[in-house]
Amino acid sequence: MANRWQHFETPIPSTGPAVLATLGRQAWLDRPSYRLEHALTFVFATLGRNRDRVGNALHGTWLGHPLHPALTSVPTGAVATTLVMDAASMLPGSAARLHDGSRFALGVALVGSVGAAATGVTDWQHTHERSRRIGLVHGALNAIATGLYASSWWDRRRGRHRRGMASSALGYGLTLASGYLGGALVFGAGTGVDRSGARLLGDRWMPVLPATALDGRPHRVAVNGVGVVLYRTDGQVIAVGERCPHLGAPMSDGWIDRGRIVCPWHGSRFACGSGDVLRGPATAALPHYPVRIRDGFVEVHGVPK
Ligand code: FES
Repeated sequence: MANRWQHFETPIPSTGPAVLATLGRQAWLDRPSYRLEHALTFVFATLGRNRDRVGNALHGTWLGHPLHPALTSVPTGAVATTLVMDAASMLPGSAARLHDGSRFALGVALVGSVGAAATGVTDWQHTHERSRRIGLVHGALNAIATGLYASSWWDRRRGRHRRGMASSALGYGLTLASGYLGGALVFGAGTGVDRSGARLLGDRWMPVLPATALDGRPHRVAVNGVGVVLYRTDGQVIAVGERCPHLGAPMSDGWIDRGRIVCPWHGSRFACGSGDVLRGPATAALPHYPVRIRDGFVEVHGVPK
């Protein structure tokens, strides 16, 4: 019998998900991943009291958004400029000036690659399993591409323009492949996306729990289908979203440390009074709700729609 839907569009074949699934299954990548993570932990430990400041700068906590995606556009754009100038230099006329310009653009790409790599590994060290494996391949492709750009720059400086053009073109192919993996980490796995979930919306106070139930431990309650976590500290009650904005850790497993709410997974810290990020890897604020006690009940107020 004919399928009643068969006249609709046929699915578009897509190899991307199969490649990502294959990479995500490569458990042998875990060993080099842990080695790299330990090396990064050691490097950050050597920063001493500046560790949090440097970490926040590289994560993009100060920006309210991951810094890595913004910085990757520098090397990508600069190498694209190099390739366009290389193509134009094949035309008769102005090859010498274009050679200078393309080498300069490639130098910009090399400097930009350092920033992109530093922010990338800082974000990557907190990923897990599938994302971590794909992220490692993403970083390895970028490292090889950067090596090709460096060799291309050197060849151009020595006058070997054709060879320099070939290696930068090859490197750009790797950069594009790596960009695809980076995009999959963001759009597919949600790395770098605010994972705190739905907000409690509304313009009224909602009773959520008898005040006597707050016993010093975090309590998760569902209000209109939205998870809210309540903490009691120093006689104050704090109401926040149930998921950490970084990778969605349950904040009901978190704790209060010297006026800061601490995420249980990677140690992001949020201000008790506002939910603002005090220390990454989170870059987005933790949802934070007004709270009061009335007639023996804890009441939470939604945020405006
Ligand atoms: S889930 Fe990573 S800091 Fe909270």
